[in-house]
Amino acid sequence: MTRNLCLCYIQLCSFFFVVVCFCYFVLSAQCETPKPGGNRILTPESNKPTYSGGDTVTFQCIVGYKPVNSKASKTLTCSGNSWDYSTLKLECTKKTCGALPDFPNGRYIYSPEGAEGILFGATAAAECNEGYLLLRYPDRHCRDSGWDGREPVCEVVKCLPPPEILNGQPEEPLLEEYEYGQAVTYICNAGYTRFGVSTVSCSNNGTFQPSPPECEKVSCDPPSVLNGNKIEGIPPYRYKSTIKFACTSGFKMEGSPSLVCERNGWDLPPPNCTGESEQWFSVCDLMPFPLNFKLTFF
Ligand SMILES: *[C@@H]1O[C@H](CO)[C@@H](O)[C@H](O)[C@H]1NC(C)=O
Ligand SMILES: *[C@@H]1O[C@H](CO)[C@@H](O)[C@H](O)[C@H]1NC(C)=O
Repeated sequence: MTRNLCLCYIQLCSFFFVVVCFCYFVLSAQCETPKPGGNRILTPESNKPTYSGGDTVTFQCIVGYKPVNSKASKTLTCSGNSWDYSTLKLECTKKTCGALPDFPNGRYIYSPEGAEGILFGATAAAECNEGYLLLRYPDRHCRDSGWDGREPVCEVVKCLPPPEILNGQPEEPLLEEYEYGQAVTYICNAGYTRFGVSTVSCSNNGTFQPSPPECEKVSCDPPSVLNGNKIEGIPPYRYKSTIKFACTSGFKMEGSPSLVCERNGWDLPPPNCTGESEQWFSVCDLMPFPLNFKLTFF
């Protein structure tokens, strides 16, 4: 009876030992999710949390990439508790979208530059020829399925007439519409001075450039110079007119004798004519001479 019990106990022990061994084998014969890199990824069907020994998984290229050789082996097998990477021959390379066909009146600028410019992830930006304006579809991207977007549309540049100006007018009557490069010349009315360029032209972006000139009547009031006289210059004083002063004898000039009439008035302040006698008096003011004191010079 005791012997039988003991035998039974041993049998039970052996059974548990076998179970433990089996569990250990099964657990240890597991592979983690393989991470082969090289722009390769598991197919959705192969994606599992754990893999047992002998399991086979299949790879494919990530989005935007394609196999270098479509016949290369794409599988890995979990052997023991690791993957045998030597069986995986799949290599992945970026897909090409190919060069885009030309479009009228413009061209594509590919980025990045060079061979990469037509591969997955590249951008093709439309650039219109001179005199043409991009109307639609500026950028295209090389996606997994090819170039997105549509063929750009470059339209010939037209300008609306340039603005009317005050105190002047275009040499010829304005048209309703202008083509790229067409020019308009303005002239100021008599007695007005032009500031800015006289000719503007229809530019690449559909506007006249630069801004039209401004016509202004420039006049400068003659300044008065105490103890001085005008020796040059006849009114009215217009843009760039000059005026020149001289001091009456006995007075000394401070400042510039001649002034030029500019857009906003004389270019310099008028000169001052100062007298030596005035300076003398000012010295006297400071001296403690008694009232009615007489100074006599010989
Ligand atoms: C057109 O181009 C000029 C410079 O060449 C710029 O000053 C102006 O703002 C542009 N106009 C428009 C509508 O883009
Ligand atoms: C003339 O005198 C005035 C007043 O003293 C002074 O403000 C001005 O700067 C002087 N002008 C010159 C040219 O020295």
